[in-house]
Amino acid sequence: MARLVRFDRTGPIKIEPQDKPVFICGCGLSQNLPFCDGAHKTCRGEDPDTLYVYDADRQTVVETRPDSAAGPDTDEEKSNE
Ligand code: FES
Repeated sequence: MARLVRFDRTGPIKIEPQDKPVFICGCGLSQNLPFCDGAHKTCRGEDPDTLYVYDADRQTVVETRPDSAAGPDTDEEKSNE
C-alpha cells in the first residue's frame, strides 16, 4: 500500500505551538495540508502490494500498478534467489 500524490509546495509549512493536539496528514491525500482532513479514509482499502496513483485533486485513483517496493516477493528479490 503506497500512493503517488502531486505536491506543489517547495518549502515547509510552519505550525505554531497548539493548546490541543493537531493531526498532520501522513497519507498525502488531505486537501488542507499539512493537516489531516479525514481524506485518509479513501485509502483504507488499498492493497498492500499495489501502488496507487491519485489525480491532482487527490480524489480519484487514476492508475494502479504492482508496488515493486512492497513485500518480500518482488521480482528483484526473486532473481537474486
Ligand atoms: S492522514 Fe491524510 S488526510 Fe488524514
